[in-house]
Amino acid sequence: MKFLSQEKINEIRNSVDIVDVISNYVQLVPKGKNFIGVCPFHDDNNPSMSVSREKKIYKCFSCGATGTVFKFIMDYENITFPEAVTKLADIAGINVNIGTPVHKKVKSPLYDVYNLSLKFYTNSINTLAGKEAKEYLNSRQIDEKTIKEFQIGLSLNSSDALTKILLKKYQPDLLLKSGLVGKNDYNYYDLFRERIMFPLYDLDGQVVGYSGRIYNKEDTSKYFNTRETEIFKKGELLYNYHRAKDEARNKGYIIIMEGFMDVIRASTIGIKNVVATMGTAVTNIQASLIKKMAKEVILCFDGDNAGAKATISCADELLKLGVSPKVIRLENDMDPDEYICKYGKDKFFDKVNNPINIMDFKFDYFKIGLNLSSTMDLSNYVNIMIKEIDKVNDDILKEVMINRLSKESGIDINVLKDKITIKPIPKKEVLPNVKTDKYEIAQRNLVWFMLKSLKVIKMYDNRITYMPNTNYRLLAREISLFYQNFGYVNEAEFMDYIMEDESLLETLKQINKANLKDEYTMEEIEDYIKVIRDYNIKSETKRLQKQLEDEVSPIEKAKIVQRMIDLKKGVV
Ligand code: CTP
Ligand code: MN
Repeated sequence: MKFLSQEKINEIRNSVDIVDVISNYVQLVPKGKNFIGVCPFHDDNNPSMSVSREKKIYKCFSCGATGTVFKFIMDYENITFPEAVTKLADIAGINVNIGTPVHKKVKSPLYDVYNLSLKFYTNSINTLAGKEAKEYLNSRQIDEKTIKEFQIGLSLNSSDALTKILLKKYQPDLLLKSGLVGKNDYNYYDLFRERIMFPLYDLDGQVVGYSGRIYNKEDTSKYFNTRETEIFKKGELLYNYHRAKDEARNKGYIIIMEGFMDVIRASTIGIKNVVATMGTAVTNIQASLIKKMAKEVILCFDGDNAGAKATISCADELLKLGVSPKVIRLENDMDPDEYICKYGKDKFFDKVNNPINIMDFKFDYFKIGLNLSSTMDLSNYVNIMIKEIDKVNDDILKEVMINRLSKESGIDINVLKDKITIKPIPKKEVLPNVKTDKYEIAQRNLVWFMLKSLKVIKMYDNRITYMPNTNYRLLAREISLFYQNFGYVNEAEFMDYIMEDESLLETLKQINKANLKDEYTMEEIEDYIKVIRDYNIKSETKRLQKQLEDEVSPIEKAKIVQRMIDLKKGVV
């Protein structure tokens, strides 16, 4: 492990109780020596996940998810390995700084600058100078509780109120990098003035920027935002992500809105599983964050035309990831904030409970402004829809849409089908499509039992010269190296050891899906070894035969034949 020593990581893993930790996320009930619960990593209602206190690992018998307490936290909270380790070290009361951090990310000093600025802004809104801002917020039905919850603050009508405070503590150069402070020939000054300050958070809930809204003037732009800094990358975060993610996971869906005011409003009526894109086109990074939050995604953008366009472009980003979102449309160009204020909670819940399918939305959207009885318009429409259907990552949905388009346009379904490419669905890091034949089973099982027994590792090292399947070969090699380095193999330790190698983890997951038992007999292992050796002999013989056919020199031919005879005798 690169950022902390293996020993330190072991110490942390061994000092927390995996059952306690996972219980914070999943209800576990005892069963035999282990505990079982519903696996949070795939869609299921059956208790297919088993947690072993003794082995310090969990495994799902259905989707194959497996790992230690670190892996669980990483996947559940969508955090990195170092973050998960640090978090659990905190729980265990172990100081991780005395380890030997090599790659540990240095925390930017800008976080401190932002914490201080947040104190200043949230305090300012409660002073006399904040009276008008408070009145404005109250007029928009944002009450004290909401102001507190979303840490809404105020920048003062002053050239350097915040700057002066920051300069007492931080170097001017750092402040210039923060996006809060500017500089002219003579002075450092506040970049935000007389605006209601809405803090923007990173994925961990740290304040990393602001959106400042006018409240007492009209002659300038409505919002002024922090520019990008080393800690603030607008395209990599979603407003309210840190608050919404657990709620979204519990409810099974996440609502996406455009503005943070919409999110704040939704929160006042009890909708907490909601995030905002903040007016920019949704990036691939944001789309994957959305995908990770919940299975079902509902887009609830502004009711105007720009909102419809944003709906399409966000949906396309999600469709690329295989997520087919639902859509809520609001009448009269209203945004969610306005809609909720005007029609109330119940009407909005009606909307949330009856979203339309993105494809139904597209069928309507792309017809707008067209007259389908005109030949040109009809052909334009069909061409657009063909492109749209092409983007769909789901064969059944594609089929349904083609049917519908054929009905709408009167064009023969086979003509439409010809125009649509059926692309293989891109999947990440999946084992190549090996048949589960006896060769595959032998390799898979052998690797599994290598994790359980040093004896099997030694047999593998001595007797298998080549494991045909690349994924199994790499994993077997890693197990064997672990053993050479440490003199033993412990499943939990090994899993954390390969934590940063996605493809090894995926292979392990695939093996785990086979639900193999822990016990084995020597005959069984011998049999796997024999099967693998047979396979190698066969493929090597084939290769030599081919070589023999191409070879002209009699001496070389003789060598090849000798090699084939050796092979037959079992000299691999
Ligand atoms: N936005 C921005 N700069 C602007 C306008 C908008 O950064 N000049 C971003 C803000 O993050 C805002 C989002 O785009 O949350 C949506 O914009 P808009 O719909 O105009 O804002 P509302 O949420 O309707 O804000 P309000 O109700 O306060 O007018
Ligand atoms: Mn609005």
